[in-house]
Amino acid sequence: MAENNVMDKEKYLEEIEDSIRTIGVLTSGGDAPGMNAAIRAVVRRALSKGLKVRGIRRGYHGLLKEEIIDLSARDVSDTIQRGGTILQTARCKSMRTEEGQQKAAAICKKYGIDGLVVIGGDGSFAGAQKLANLGVNTIGVPGTIDLDIACTDYTIGFDTAVNTAMEAIDKVRDTSTSHERCSIIEVMGRDAGYLALWCGIANGAERILMPEEHDFDEQALVQDIMANKKRGKKNYIIINAEGIGDSINMAKRIEEATGIETRATILGHMQRGGSPTCKDRVYASIMGAMAVDLLCQGKTNRVVGYKDGRYVDYDIEEALAMKKTISDYQYNIAKSLAI
Ligand code: ADP
Ligand code: F6P
Repeated sequence: MAENNVMDKEKYLEEIEDSIRTIGVLTSGGDAPGMNAAIRAVVRRALSKGLKVRGIRRGYHGLLKEEIIDLSARDVSDTIQRGGTILQTARCKSMRTEEGQQKAAAICKKYGIDGLVVIGGDGSFAGAQKLANLGVNTIGVPGTIDLDIACTDYTIGFDTAVNTAMEAIDKVRDTSTSHERCSIIEVMGRDAGYLALWCGIANGAERILMPEEHDFDEQALVQDIMANKKRGKKNYIIINAEGIGDSINMAKRIEEATGIETRATILGHMQRGGSPTCKDRVYASIMGAMAVDLLCQGKTNRVVGYKDGRYVDYDIEEALAMKKTISDYQYNIAKSLAI
């Protein structure tokens, strides 16, 4: 009896695997270091299961333009260490329309893509969900330097970006200390302060400004900068998230109010480039391969995540409804370590 059960299960798995023959992969939204490792994992995991792989260039924009290429194991050679995305990425307005979504689903069918892996952020997952509703099996893989996807503790690219920013901020700190200045360093994060918080802790900043706290009191900041000087500190580092922005004007206002020379440095897109860290490569490889495995298990409309120390998957709708907030506790620790 037990033996029969094992045989039934094997047959069932074979049947499901048979229903997926071709897997498509695309990257969408802002690029992130490690996306190439994820693409490589999708390609090679699928090929190792005897499937065909098609790469879609320029995200949903390329899908609608039928920019679709076959991918072999060799096409992803020498890419695991490269930043950016070899498939390119784009933002695509038409994909937000019902007409665009129907066209995209029809193109997937035309090219025999019966499983699609979408590497990107929440917006890209919303697009994947629309395709799943139209009969294309889709799995999302979290790729963004912002770490702002609620269903996962980890997003591909964050580790590299935060280390890149941290190293750059260390360099600014050296010159800031030499000149006994106040330095405002702007990091990415239009809607999320994770990069700012992590850099704030890792770089020992005196103040962290995040989009989650947009009504901060600049007068109190000015007072704190002067009190800091009195305490004998040689600089004052402010990590300012892009969502607050205005760093150059803020520097002028602070210098005027405190009499302390103040400079602004905007790190910008250098944070999104560069060779991925070991962590980004490994997580991206596992998540990319897992997306293929989920498709082969007959799953669709799911997002891969890493939660509480385990790789997991969620329904896209459930994942998009989740909320993530910056930890007040961690933020307060950062403040107390800046005395
Ligand atoms: P991210 O994936 O990093 O969050 P965006 O929010 O820019 O980046 O989304 C990337 C792309 O996903 C958009 O350009 C669009 O083509 C698609 N997209 C975003 N939101 C939706 C939506 N609600 N429905 C369908 N497609 C969407
Ligand atoms: O990749 C995420 C992100 O860096 C956000 O922090 C930022 O707001 C946005 O992308 C900017 O992207 P772009 O300059 O490509 O429009």
